[in-house]
Amino acid sequence: MNKPPIDVDATVARITFKLAAYDVTQSEKTAYPNEAKGALWSTVPAPDWVSGFYPGALWYAYEFAQRRGWPDQDQWRQRADAWTVGITEEQFTTTNHDLGFMIMDSFGHAFRLTGEARYKSVVLQAAQSLGKRFIPQVGMIRSWGDIDDAKNYIVIIDNMMNLELLIWASENGGPADLKKIALDHADRSIVEFFRADDSTCHVLDLDPATGLVKRKYTHQGLNDESCWSRGQTWAIYGYAYLYEATGTDRYLQQSLKAAEYYLARLPTDHVPPSDFNSGLTALEFKDSSAAALASCAFFRLSRLCQAPADKTRFWDAAVQTLASLVNAPYFSKDSGFASALRYQARNYHPDATHRLTNTGLIFGDYYLLEALLAYDSATKA
Ligand code: GLY
Repeated sequence: MNKPPIDVDATVARITFKLAAYDVTQSEKTAYPNEAKGALWSTVPAPDWVSGFYPGALWYAYEFAQRRGWPDQDQWRQRADAWTVGITEEQFTTTNHDLGFMIMDSFGHAFRLTGEARYKSVVLQAAQSLGKRFIPQVGMIRSWGDIDDAKNYIVIIDNMMNLELLIWASENGGPADLKKIALDHADRSIVEFFRADDSTCHVLDLDPATGLVKRKYTHQGLNDESCWSRGQTWAIYGYAYLYEATGTDRYLQQSLKAAEYYLARLPTDHVPPSDFNSGLTALEFKDSSAAALASCAFFRLSRLCQAPADKTRFWDAAVQTLASLVNAPYFSKDSGFASALRYQARNYHPDATHRLTNTGLIFGDYYLLEALLAYDSATKA
């Protein structure tokens, strides 16, 4: 398998330097990094959907320091713990579907890496809270809106990333029906989100009484018929995870179909535009966070696919993407830019006043670290 030069140790050190630099500015550990246009992060409080990514990145830093036997590993663990506990109250929230992001990336990693029971109980409670956003007549988890809104029932493709919380809980002492909720959601998502060409739409607006789809539209893409690239990568990643968790072939097939659509449209630097249909190829319209997610998913597909040709193809796609992200122009080495990854996009919108591209975002940095750890595991094995 090809091994382009990715200096994992040096790259992780540069990312973790930025993570530590933010931590020392915060005595309270309650303002979570969100977005960076320059040297400073804008921040959000714990109830925001991105709150788990910073503690999650700190847990990856701890995992990497442990792997290498670095002397600062306890310091990383303390940092990660301090930012994780700030999210504790979110375990009871039933107002959104983002608990998977918030809790698995913080408390989920905390329990995986330490085995401490105090982290596990939060994950189990959070899964029960998320389960309350599912109603059987729809067969999907409600992403946005009040839990008892009788008029609107909004589900977004991003929700594929929140299913791990339910499945993990059901297999680690939580109620078994949480897994059924996750799989019902995944199965209906195959039917509703995917188009004939295997691209995904972003948002479903359903009738909560009948479960019927009223409308399909976009919130962060170019238009209702276009393919928002991060939405596509949420799908590739989500179904690859589900295949690993369940062994069910249709989830692998769905991930592969979504991946084929994505790979067929990638530019030569392996970083997609924020929307595949925008026709805008300039750096300022790219989304390197989608590329980081894709790299993580392709490492997983390379591991899970049986056919040697598929293994190699996804390995190459994962590594080429990662190699692009850890170099100029995407990787930011300097302290004048808070985020590690440049050219991330919150959303693409035809009206520039509603568009947010060409920025740093904490979740892209988180998935970049995840991809680096996956590459490291595979090459050190
Ligand atoms: N889940 C929100 C986003 O991908 O921007």
